[in-house]
Amino acid sequence: MTEMKSSIMVIFGASGDLAHIKIFPALYSLWEDGFFPDKFFIVGFARTDMDDETFRKTVFSALNVNCRKKPISEDEFLNFSKHVFYLTSKYDDGSSYDKLGGFIESKAKEYNISKNVIYYLSTPPSVYINVIDGIKNANLTSYEYKGENFSRIVIEKPFGYDYESAKNLNSKILSVFKEEEVYRIDHYLGKETVQNIFAFRFSNAIFEPIWNNKFIDHIQISSLESIGVGFRAGYFDKAGIIRDMMQNHMMQLLASVAIEPPAIFDADDIRNEKAKLLKSIRPLSLNDVKNFTVRGQYDRGTLDNKPVISYKEEDGIPANSTTDTYVALKLFIDNYRWAGVPFYLRSGKRLKKHKTEIAVYFKKLPYSLYGKDGIEKIKQNSIIITIQPNEGISINFGAKAPGFKVDIEPVNMVFNYKSSFKLTPPDAYERLIYDIILGDQTLFARYDDTLIAWQFITSIINGWSKTETPVFPNYEAGSWGPEEADGLINADGRNWNNA
Ligand code: NDP
Ligand code: BG6
Repeated sequence: MTEMKSSIMVIFGASGDLAHIKIFPALYSLWEDGFFPDKFFIVGFARTDMDDETFRKTVFSALNVNCRKKPISEDEFLNFSKHVFYLTSKYDDGSSYDKLGGFIESKAKEYNISKNVIYYLSTPPSVYINVIDGIKNANLTSYEYKGENFSRIVIEKPFGYDYESAKNLNSKILSVFKEEEVYRIDHYLGKETVQNIFAFRFSNAIFEPIWNNKFIDHIQISSLESIGVGFRAGYFDKAGIIRDMMQNHMMQLLASVAIEPPAIFDADDIRNEKAKLLKSIRPLSLNDVKNFTVRGQYDRGTLDNKPVISYKEEDGIPANSTTDTYVALKLFIDNYRWAGVPFYLRSGKRLKKHKTEIAVYFKKLPYSLYGKDGIEKIKQNSIIITIQPNEGISINFGAKAPGFKVDIEPVNMVFNYKSSFKLTPPDAYERLIYDIILGDQTLFARYDDTLIAWQFITSIINGWSKTETPVFPNYEAGSWGPEEADGLINADGRNWNNA
């Protein structure tokens, strides 16, 4: 196993939400499980005026709400907190970066460690350029490749706003860091169930031979949430589901289920295959955008027997917002494996059920031995990969119901993580941060797959700007989404898996 090197993680925007909800809980769990390198230090860099102790207190409170391993006692936390520091700093102020440089030097000297530094950008994207310039101008990457040292940069989503801005951001990052030092986070890739798609496909002999257009009728990828926009109105109203979910998580799920087997299981080979797959998505013409995409925005409705407000009534959302909180689309992958197989993708907020799944439907029987009526009754075989909740995989087929009559009923063979492994899978951020410290880029988006995904998504956004915006809201909170989304799939004689 690759050894984890002593290092220093700098968290820009450490006073914020993500740091407290995801990053520190993941770091704490890794530390508690003994996955930290021998000498590892975390330093928060943000404007909010705090000293180390005050910052540690905010981390402690957050861990007790958000950590997989809660409750955490003060004694346990005390040992962890010796690794945690804070520098009150400004993102556009050279002296703040000099101070950071001084901190790195002093820790390296005091503990006799190499200057291995991980820069984690957990600020709003508007601050990224200042931070990258600050790091560069203060020569804080100059340690790289001297002896064994490394410097790495971690970028959160959203990675750009459209194709052009993503390209510019890439160029900016790559003017300071090398691609092998860049970790673009898509937290879906850190989910156990998403990693298991590869294991399911490539470590079993029985599935790959049928994983193609000869046997598969169509594939549905759904990421449905019952929560609304929450406290992220400012960000979400500019992004919409198309940028928030489709460009990143949904494209990564699509790539995971559809790529060719890589030559070897390493970061480059997997990401080469992903880029190749995403490049094969058939571009959508303006007409396709009209016919193959559906946008929605939620209205008032009922969820868990409680009334909920409409998107436009949410705190911070303009009353005339035309932002999409739901998107469904159909696409084709023009390659030998998938030619002719439609992929239906949908994602939205305030929907009836919280579930993320990939549903693979196999072709109908060519002929039924069970008579003319039987063929109508017999369901298509399917494999449902549930990413969350109730993580698992079910294979659905027909079986004869007991009795004197021939009656074929659908039955399921189910693999469920909890009952098979009796373990709660680690949070996606634990796995991703572990890999960042280790230096394994397999589960991170590369510059080219990010840009190819943006190219496809930007063509949809541009198409929408040339077509009439639907009258929003157009679906009730607590429903399965707009009727037009049913129309999209029903028109092909198929239905969404709303089980
Ligand atoms: P926050 O809005 O909480 O911002 C993080 C910190 O950045 C703040 O505490 C603040 O620190 C500083 N900051 C905020 N706004 C500005 C500004 N306009 N100019 C300068 N500094 C600012 O963001 P999150 O923590 O929610 O998210 C961080 C990153 O992670 C973002 O890119 C976000 O898109 C991404 N992300 C967040 C998720 C979440 O659930 N929160 C999920 C997935 C990705 P200070 O004022 O102390 O400097
Ligand atoms: C984030 C999106 O990336 O993913 C959120 O910004 C969304 O809008 C979230 O709610 C969903 O993640 P998960 O892990 O809860 O499926």
